[in-house]
Amino acid sequence: MKRYSENRLIAGTNIIWEVEVCSTNTHLISLLNSSKLPGGTVIIASHQTAGRGQIGNRWHSEAGKNLTFSMVIYPGFLDLQKQFLLNMAVSLALVDYLKAIIPDVYIKWPNDIYISHKKIAGILVENSVSGNQIKQTVIGIGLNINQTLFPPDLPNPTSLALETGRKFELEEVTELILNFLDARLLQLKSEKFERLHTDYLKYLYRINKPYLFDVNGETVEGIIKNVDDTGHLIVEIADELRTFGFKEIKYLYEIWN
Ligand code: BTN
Repeated sequence: MKRYSENRLIAGTNIIWEVEVCSTNTHLISLLNSSKLPGGTVIIASHQTAGRGQIGNRWHSEAGKNLTFSMVIYPGFLDLQKQFLLNMAVSLALVDYLKAIIPDVYIKWPNDIYISHKKIAGILVENSVSGNQIKQTVIGIGLNINQTLFPPDLPNPTSLALETGRKFELEEVTELILNFLDARLLQLKSEKFERLHTDYLKYLYRINKPYLFDVNGETVEGIIKNVDDTGHLIVEIADELRTFGFKEIKYLYEIWN
């Protein structure tokens, strides 16, 4: 089934609905390897048999209950050094949608979406880069909507249904999220970098609050101060500002609220 929205400029200009794929990111990337699809093309699947998360993790989502989709854009307008602004824009689009429904929405660096201390959505951004340019970006989003039971090995999942006690119409949620994505990607394209950065920090989980981190196997107390445009986390540790890449620091748990 194919649908098309004429109102959006960047996101979800061409929508392909699939009943089942391995992973919408993998499926879209393999389609892009054999044909050029217009920027803004979205593949939505009711079920993923092998949904992928960050750092090789799996993304669990019960068939027909949640939103799992991927979109391609061609961000030739964005310097490679600023690539994390894409993750910021996508995270903020989810926050924009969720904050109207539930308070306590946060972005846990780099781009997990949290309600209080529980994860409601994950984002997997896969860039293909040539020289100093991002040629193609596949943005994968998994948002838990109507699922209320999760496998026990997931540390802290939640969903819109669990948070609100009601059921949501998946197509309606999809439309709204694509509209918010469109608006945030337009901000990115029109170089509203400062605005995106400020908004991202506004929703950043545990910013300016003490937290325990694991750095190279050592437990340290630190305070998150910033995230730069390349996506590094800037943490104050023992009165010194230190910069960390994704695999260089791990959150442990809160020590004070
Ligand atoms: C994470 O938090 O680890 C990222 C999860 C990203 C999951 C989405 S679901 C749609 C898209 N297809 C995938 O295989 N993964 C992303």
